[in-house]
Amino acid sequence: MDETTGSTVRVANLVRQFRTGTERLTAIDDVSLDVAAGSVVAMTGPSGSGKSTLLHLIGAIEPADAGTVTVDDVEVTGLRRAALARYRQRVGFVFQRYHLLPALTVLDNVIAPVLPRRGHGRHVARARDLLDAVGLAGRERALPAQLSGGQQQRVAIARALMGAPLLLLADEPTGNLDSTTGGQVLDLLLDLRDRYGMTILLATHERAIAARCDRLVRLGDGRIVEDLDLTDGEDPAHTFDRATRLRL
Ligand SMILES: Nc1ncnc2c1ncn2[C@@H]1O[C@H](COP(=O)(O)OP(=O)(O)OP(=O)(O)O)[C@@H](O)[C@H]1O
Ligand SMILES: [Mg+2]
Repeated sequence: MDETTGSTVRVANLVRQFRTGTERLTAIDDVSLDVAAGSVVAMTGPSGSGKSTLLHLIGAIEPADAGTVTVDDVEVTGLRRAALARYRQRVGFVFQRYHLLPALTVLDNVIAPVLPRRGHGRHVARARDLLDAVGLAGRERALPAQLSGGQQQRVAIARALMGAPLLLLADEPTGNLDSTTGGQVLDLLLDLRDRYGMTILLATHERAIAARCDRLVRLGDGRIVEDLDLTDGEDPAHTFDRATRLRL
């Protein structure tokens, strides 16, 4: 494990099925994927193609039916309770719809994941630093309902970073935002990756967001149907050309 570049992720022959009545739906169908430490990978694909499910499996929020997820040297799919809880605390997860606690202030939302742990003063200091890093210094005492969508998303990102994760999983982090605000949230994620050294997997429907990532993995019916390296020899200034080239 390299503390400065983030986690490596290795997904091998992963399967996840759901039973609805008598039907059995294969949401993730034999997916294999290697993600390099420190890279930012965009997962795209139509609604229902399995993006959220794959992120949930990698984050150990849902169990897999077959196959393995290995993060650094840990086989996540084989972990039992205590080790699983420790793993979940090391991974940052930004949910598709923020999931902020409406009755808690911004500061308390950020601290929430580490609340049962000791060292409250230290946690408050870290939460304040993270809120500063996401551009929300001064809003610590606001309630989520008093913030814009982009600001709430930034609170969710600060919360996901509370445990100093080497892996950040973000499910449509710009999904509910206008394109300018969405672009700013991606700027923030890329900046945080550079600053803290993280691997980032994000699900997105947006072509302009995916085009700014290092790699694009497109899902269709639970399978990987396209896998593009977007960094190969390209000048980042050509982002626009990349965006128009990709059929998202
Ligand atoms: N808890 C569940 N029970 C039953 N089926 C589920 C469950 N979660 C997901 N599915 C099904 O698995 C498939 C993949 O869903 P998933 O949410 O991963 O897609 P997605 O690519 O994230 O879609 P979206 O772009 O709409 O967020 C879908 O057919 C969905 O209906
Ligand atoms: Mg989804």
